[in-house]
Amino acid sequence: MHAWICEEFAGPERLVWKEAPTPEPGKGEVRVAIKAASLNFPDLLIVQGKYQMRPPLPFVPGAEFAGVVEAVGDGVKHLSVGTQVAGFAGVGGFGTHTVAPAAVLMPLPPVFSFEDAAAFLCTYGTTYHALMDRAQLKAGETVLVLGAAGGVGTAAIQIAKAAGARVIAATSSDDKCALCKTLGADATINYSTQNLRDELKTLTDGKGPDVIYDPVGGDLTEAAFRSIAWRGRLLVIGFANGQIPALPLNLALLKGASILGVFWGEFAKREPQNNAACLMQLAAWYMEGKIKPVVEQKLAMADLPRAFELMGSRQVRGKLVLTNP
Ligand SMILES: NC(=O)c1ccc[n+]([C@@H]2O[C@H](COP(=O)([O-])OP(=O)(O)OC[C@H]3O[C@@H](n4cnc5c(N)ncnc54)[C@H](OP(=O)(O)O)[C@@H]3O)[C@@H](O)[C@H]2O)c1
Repeated sequence: MHAWICEEFAGPERLVWKEAPTPEPGKGEVRVAIKAASLNFPDLLIVQGKYQMRPPLPFVPGAEFAGVVEAVGDGVKHLSVGTQVAGFAGVGGFGTHTVAPAAVLMPLPPVFSFEDAAAFLCTYGTTYHALMDRAQLKAGETVLVLGAAGGVGTAAIQIAKAAGARVIAATSSDDKCALCKTLGADATINYSTQNLRDELKTLTDGKGPDVIYDPVGGDLTEAAFRSIAWRGRLLVIGFANGQIPALPLNLALLKGASILGVFWGEFAKREPQNNAACLMQLAAWYMEGKIKPVVEQKLAMADLPRAFELMGSRQVRGKLVLTNP
């Protein structure tokens, strides 16, 4: 097998593509021949040593992947050799093979391609938990999505629309805004050229968005939160901008607003049954054609450094998928 190895927390430039002995699964584990893996922003943070979780060195990055089970360890009940699976294991996905705990892998319904499956769990799992569980989004409410053309952003547009909400998609370019329109966004704001607060005022008749989905952070967060509606909910998803914002809490008081933290990985670990219920609903929406990962760019697994470069320079629209032949 081959895999990208992170030997030090020095960023994507220092990863090495190496041959390694094909691993055998231990108790409760399976070996997967990886067909596709997708890039999530936390993958970039992990190899820089900036993520909340620091795996012991050396390790193979790549949180999310899909493939075919090749070997099964003792005690594994729900998977067998040949089963097509998708998994979110935190690490291990950027290679030709990986060994992962069977508990983090799920058999794929036949309608899923490997590419869609590899781009699904993290972005849609996070976003469903955020909008439907944490924010209790209701049909007819208005959702502002920041960084709306990115991985979790595109999932947020689709899930909010599937739930009957009105979506204002905000991004850094006209090109990204145009993509959001094709995904069903009702209105867009280019926050590089337009004033976010003025536009929100116009688009909501002065009321403000009921829910703000924020994977970006930095100065955008306070600007958006100042515009939130009465009883609004701010979803803290992430800080792709690199800056963790601090908010004056009087703003929450004045609007009767809530600030809701979202940590899907921990939710999936602590509340596996609730997470499974969310994933069932998402799979149903996928089969009904209501949601589908936006995969505009595919690269060979050996091109991982290029993939990281595109993500780090804000050039990924939707999800970037890496494939093995
Ligand atoms: N809480 C959770 O459970 C959870 C789960 C998954 C991901 N996340 C977090 O969600 C965030 C987005 O993840 P993602 O996988 O969707 O990433 P992504 O596809 O790269 O999207 C991030 C978006 O952030 C915007 N951005 C602003 N400043 C940026 C910068 N300096 N570098 C890169 N992007 C920048 C970009 O949109 P514009 O160019 O339009 O501004 C970009 O499209 C990350 O912070 C990630 O850690 C959290």
